Amino acid sequence: MTETQILQALGLGIMGVGGAILLFVKARFVRVMAFVAIVLGAFSLVALGVPQMASMPPVVEKFDLAAIKDKRELAGIGQKIFFGTGQCALCHTIGSSEGRCPDLKGVGAKLTREFLYESLTQPQAFTYMDYEHVGPAKGFPAKMPYINKKPIGLNKNEILAVIAFLQNMSGEEVTINLSELATPGSASSDGRKAL
Ligand code: HEC
Repeated sequence: MTETQILQALGLGIMGVGGAILLFVKARFVRVMAFVAIVLGAFSLVALGVPQMASMPPVVEKFDLAAIKDKRELAGIGQKIFFGTGQCALCHTIGSSEGRCPDLKGVGAKLTREFLYESLTQPQAFTYMDYEHVGPAKGFPAKMPYINKKPIGLNKNEILAVIAFLQNMSGEEVTINLSELATPGSASSDGRKAL
């Protein structure tokens, strides 16, 4: 029996006792109390009948190095990071220009992986202002954050996975080799080292 079911049984029990008192007891005060018990029991049943919504923090994507078999899988993890912990999709779109920031469609083909890495870890190094290059530069309402620093703080493996995703979704060959992924605990896994 789950906790909810126990509470529901308790609510039903209280309503039952209340009903029995109403049927058989004449004393007015006891009858009023019984009525209150029935109403409270009914409320608790309704409340317990509402499905529970637990608000959990976003699932942190575990990087199980041993489980990654090929570059496609790496790109798949990168995709989850892109739409999850990396928060990239808060600003960027892929293939629609509605976003507040450069659309990333085909960016893996447009930029080299070194440039991609730099765009993520030194976003202020190359500021284009706007990526349309038509008319005077407009600037974006948001700033590309440092992906390897707080609050997003992706580690190097995660950044490489995101780059693999960007290349893969642009129809490019993924140039990240699985052997480049740092093993957890080693010095270069904190993402602050250069490529
Ligand atoms: C707060 C909004 C925001 C978030 C979150 C964000 N970006 Fe950006 N990004 C920008 C802006 C604005 C630019 C424009 C470049 C500039 O400011 O220099 C940009 C530029 C880029 C570029 C360079 C595009 C080009 O054509 O040169 C890449 C690649 C990129 N972002 C990838 C990412 C990835 C991957 C993530 C998630 C890990 C991410 N961004 C998260 C706002 C954001």
